Parts: sequence; C-alpha cells; structure tokens
Amino acid sequence: MEKAGLLLYINVMTHSLENKTVLLIITGGIAAYKALDLIRLIKKAGGDVRCILTEGGAQFVTPLSVSALSENEVYTDLFSLKDESEMGHIRLSREADLIIVAPASADFIAKMAHGRADDLASATILASDKPILIAPAMNPEMWAKEAAQDNIAALKERGITTIGPAQGDTACGETGTGRMSEPEEIFAAIIGFFHEQPLKGYKALVTAGPTYEPIDPVRFLGNRSSGKQGYAIATALFEAGAEVTLVAGPSVLPDPPGITTQRIETAQEMWQACEAALPAHIAVCAAAVSDWAPKTQKDSKIKKRRNHTPPSIALKENPDILARLAKAGPQRPDMLIGFAAETDNLIENAREKLSRKNCDLIVANAINAGEKVFGSDQNHVHLVTIHEDEHWPRADKKVIARKLVQRIVKHLKEDQDNVARIHAA
Ligand code: CTP
Repeated sequence: MEKAGLLLYINVMTHSLENKTVLLIITGGIAAYKALDLIRLIKKAGGDVRCILTEGGAQFVTPLSVSALSENEVYTDLFSLKDESEMGHIRLSREADLIIVAPASADFIAKMAHGRADDLASATILASDKPILIAPAMNPEMWAKEAAQDNIAALKERGITTIGPAQGDTACGETGTGRMSEPEEIFAAIIGFFHEQPLKGYKALVTAGPTYEPIDPVRFLGNRSSGKQGYAIATALFEAGAEVTLVAGPSVLPDPPGITTQRIETAQEMWQACEAALPAHIAVCAAAVSDWAPKTQKDSKIKKRRNHTPPSIALKENPDILARLAKAGPQRPDMLIGFAAETDNLIENAREKLSRKNCDLIVANAINAGEKVFGSDQNHVHLVTIHEDEHWPRADKKVIARKLVQRIVKHLKEDQDNVARIHAA
C-alpha cells in the first residue's frame, strides 16, 4: 500500500465517516428496529445520515425516533409538497454519497428489481446515480423462493451490493437464512465502501478471553479475562479488510459479525483451533491462557465429605500458543503479537517475553493495585519491541485495537518495502 493510503487509513480509523452523507432507506420488517442502531453507529463515526421511512417501515419504527437519532428530518411521502420542495427524491439521492436499504424487505427488493417508483423510497432508488447497498431481511422460506432469488440476482447484476442475510432464528419463529445482518456488520460494509482496506487479502488469527481447565465436571482453573480487548482487535482487523479467525475462550461477548469465531474452553483446544487456522499473515495472542491444567480430570465431582483434608491438585504445563506459533516454520505469521499483563517491572518482563516467545511485538499493560483492567472497557498499554517502548495513554479498548491495527499495517508495509528494496538491489 502507498504511504498516502496508509495515512488516509489512519485518519479513517479516527474519523471514519466525516464529511460523508449516507441515505438510509428503512422498509417494512421487524428488523427495522436494528436500523436505529445503524443510525447511531454512522453518527458516532461522524457521518451525516438522512432517512427515508417507507409506509411499511413506519409500522415498526416511528419517524420521531429516526429523526431524533439521525438529527435530521425524516422523509416519508413522495407527494408531500413539503418534502418535495425541501428535499425531493432527486436531491435526496444526489446529495448522498451512498444509499443503504436496511432492512430491505422482499417486497422492496422486488420493487427495485422491477424499477417501480410509486413511493418516495423506490422513486429515489430509481432516480439514483449513487452506489447502493442492501441488507435483505425476510422469512427464510421467502428468501429461498426462486422469485426472491431472481430479484436479488438481478440487483447484483446491476452492481448493487448485498450484505447478508444472516442465518439464525427469525422473528417469525423459524430458523434459516433470512434475518438482517447485524448493524455492526452493515456499518463495517459502509466503512469498507468508503475507505481503502489495507489488510484486504490478509488472514489474521486472534486469541481472546480466558481458558477454563477442568478439575472435575463442576470446577475449573480459570482467570478474570473478559475477552474485550481481543474481540476489539478481531473487529478492528476485520474493519481493515482482513479475513479474521477469532479463537475465544469462555466469554459472555457475542460472536463479532463478519468474523469466524471458534469457541473453545481449554488451552489445548485453543492451540488446536489456532493450528487449524494457519497459515495466517497476522496473529495476535490476546488470550489469558492458563499456564497450567490439572494433570487429570475427575469424572465425578470431588466430594468434600469424602476428603477430610483439602485435596491437592497436581498440575501439568499447558502448550504455549504464542511460542508455538513463533515456531510454526513456514507457517509462522509475518506479524506475531503477544500480550503481557504484569504487576512488576513491566517493560523488563515484557521484553523478556518478547525474546523468550520470539514474537515481533508485546502489548504490555501494568496491573496496578486497585486499578481495573480485566473486564474494564478501557486499557492503557506500552508497545514493547527490542529497541522501543511506546506508551499509549488510557483509552477505550476499541481505540487501542484500532491503533494496534494501524501499527500492524505499518509493520507489514515496512516489510514489503524491505523486500522490494532487496529485489531492486
Ligand atoms: N500465552 C499463550 N499460551 C500460553 C501462555 C501465554 O499463547 N500457554 C500468550 C498470551 O496470550 C500472551 C503472552 O503469551 O500473549 C504472555 O502471556 P503471559 O501469561 O503473560 O506469559 P507467561 O509465559 O505465562 O509468563 P508469566 O506467567 O511468567 O508472566
């Protein structure tokens, strides 16, 4: 990637949708409530969002909530003189940089496919010269019907991008493909549309969360990791265009949209899932892996009344996933990042880990008495390499994740430049 592209990307990650206008068309469907979240995400990223609510859409969300969240007037009626004089369907489409239809109902998709223009939303689409993304949402049977599939194929043929639909339970109580993609996934597609994705074509592996090492069917050895930092890194890598596998220990966090999430419990399972995800260009080991596991796992619960003295639990060492990834020979990731949470001698210990585990970078955070890192939404870290120690001030874990991805992009770019220089010499 060119340097200018890199700078643009860095800018993007801080002001993602600044100076961008998104026209969001909300059609009728239970998923319309998720459009409110999408509005919130676009606004949070600095974008201007204008909304058209169809008659069907207004059955599910009110114009008031849409206008309150978008901080703009909501447009509903093709023939309202007020709407037409202030912002007609032509102007609405011309002033937008991108049009999103979310949710896109089966009926609205059919209208689009057949060039209908009998309401403000469909007339705007027909009059539009702008790129269009649609997020279909409907009952799985409807989605599977030949008629619906033909309509979708026709839209794709005309260059319209579809996001989803996703698999899962639908509001009508059936399971299958048909539910609207999550707002975060649609948002990521918007970001991807506007901005260069410097990690497109790259594969990334992220470990996150704790591991649970069973003692008996009831008890385990575990730790306080929430997985928030690792999940945020997986999402930031995905937003930058990478194909991401997240190997996650027990965490209450939902699977991040657009990412392949493998849920595991033990360190041994984590290693197997990581090995299966190789080769990867980038690996970030953010998991708090238990260093030890009970040597044997009891099949039935250890009973207090049968043990007059507290039982002792013999431990065995777990595989060190980070160190094993570093030794993966030709499959070693080009950029391998470890974490270190330390109570004492932060930089010294981080540097020792860096060389012992042979990784490229350690993200170190100090665990100070009385300060909450595990489970917190915020983190403050040092980036430690052999020669450097860079302190990043306390920030949201999502911000730290995006900054880390910028660093990864920079590192990979420098590597590419070095290879190019060697070839040129
Ligand atoms: N790590 C790993 N597998 C393990 C242990 C640790 O992949 N079995 C990774 C963590 O994900 C983290 C880094 O290694 O990226 C450092 O973890 P940490 O627990 O701090 O390292 P240890 O080697 O266990 O060092 P110590 O317990 O002595 O601090």
